Amino acid sequence: MNKIIVAIDGYSSCGKSTLAKQIAREKGYIYIDTGAMYRSIALYALQNKIISNAHFDKQALIDSLSKIQVSFSYNSESNASETYLDGKNIEKEIRGIEVSNQVSKVAQVKEVRAKLVDIQRELGKSKGLVMDGRDIGSVVFPDAELKIFMTADHKIRAQRRFDELQAKGDVITFNEVLENITNRDNDDTSRSENPLVKAEDAIVIDNSEITPKEQLKIALEYVNDKLTFD
Ligand code: DC
Repeated sequence: MNKIIVAIDGYSSCGKSTLAKQIAREKGYIYIDTGAMYRSIALYALQNKIISNAHFDKQALIDSLSKIQVSFSYNSESNASETYLDGKNIEKEIRGIEVSNQVSKVAQVKEVRAKLVDIQRELGKSKGLVMDGRDIGSVVFPDAELKIFMTADHKIRAQRRFDELQAKGDVITFNEVLENITNRDNDDTSRSENPLVKAEDAIVIDNSEITPKEQLKIALEYVNDKLTFD
């Protein structure tokens, strides 16, 4: 087999994008971060006063969906694909805590999911793709050749995310990050629309105690197996 789809799902901040980028680089595949798509819609909702801690005008968001353009463009300097909302690079804004705090509510809206799943399937048409998210193996690409479900201890995940945010200069406490991760785990697993589940045929990688290099080695063995034998 020439090219496959690698679907990576799992909890928030457990290194899905690190692994997905590594596999994509090794194999010359495209990497798509579907969380960035949901974050872009949440940023749109924040900017247009459709959502805040206290209110969420779901219908206004649904009515705006056809106007919202989410796209990716490869940045050769950072060697990464960056996210654009209506033509504007929003890579930095979508990673902040304000968006993180609202994104689960947006990701529960059926119409939002339908729009983004359509875009994701279109991107996967010619294979050679690593996509990460919550429903990639279960809903977006149920026939993906390789499905990986990632997990890690929630305190370890919170510490990693806290370190990242601090390095970027965000003013935040560890407990705020832990609370955000715990809430998002609950929202992701309990929502009625496409909740986070491990696809039956997914392999599980728990990276609590292993390095990114070790997890890449494990994943590449599976990828290469699929490329050799299927
Ligand atoms: O992976 P992330 O933390 O950037 O994802 C942001 C949010 O989007 C997260 O709360 C779950 C949601 N999400 C989703 O529901 N489905 C996806 N395929 C990807 C992300």
